[in-house]
Amino acid sequence: MIKSELTIIAAASANNVIGFNNKLIWNIPKDLKRFKELTQGHSVIMGRKTFESLPSPLPNRRNIVVTRNKDYSPGGIQVFSSIEDAIDVCKDDLQPFIIGGGEIYSQTINLVDKIELTRVYKDYQGDAFFPDIPMDKFELDSELVNYLDDDSNTKYSFLTYIKK
Ligand SMILES: NC(=O)c1ccc[n+]([C@@H]2O[C@H](COP(=O)([O-])OP(=O)(O)OC[C@H]3O[C@@H](n4cnc5c(N)ncnc54)[C@H](OP(=O)(O)O)[C@@H]3O)[C@@H](O)[C@H]2O)c1
Repeated sequence: MIKSELTIIAAASANNVIGFNNKLIWNIPKDLKRFKELTQGHSVIMGRKTFESLPSPLPNRRNIVVTRNKDYSPGGIQVFSSIEDAIDVCKDDLQPFIIGGGEIYSQTINLVDKIELTRVYKDYQGDAFFPDIPMDKFELDSELVNYLDDDSNTKYSFLTYIKK
């Protein structure tokens, strides 16, 4: 049996901020494009707050939402009351993605095989955070450097970490 490669995908600032007031901090078209390309056709597992920050379920993906609310049942998604059950149901997917937010990243960072992290090399103010990557368990596999399309000359990188 082929093992699925459970993957976190996230974008975080230099100080690990990923969101503020249940919204993303930045708009980086190349990052959104990459997110779409990588996750298309796959399962995407997210926390209830991240789901509610989206305009609708993500098209062409199996949307899986975790909540402790047993009565939660919006259309177009599958709901689970534990992260383990959500991951379990994705066993038929070769690459299921954990797409946030902060609470879900911190509870899964030690479970995943791969991390696709967009790191924006600037500090931002926020209220949702990416956990520290346990570098005893992961190694950097590749880095692709870019610059924000504004006048700030801020660097960001697509970083791929794989489990050692
Ligand atoms: N930059 C990025 O890559 C990125 C990606 C995604 C999201 N975000 C941002 O992150 C922020 C949201 O993150 P967040 O940490 O506030 O919330 P979140 O992780 O999206 O969702 C938290 C919710 O998930 C449910 N949950 C958490 N742990 C659970 C468990 N073990 N079992 C069952 N349900 C569980 C709970 O829902 P109930 O309260 O309903 O029980 C909890 O309130 C937003 O600002 C969003 O824009 C950023």
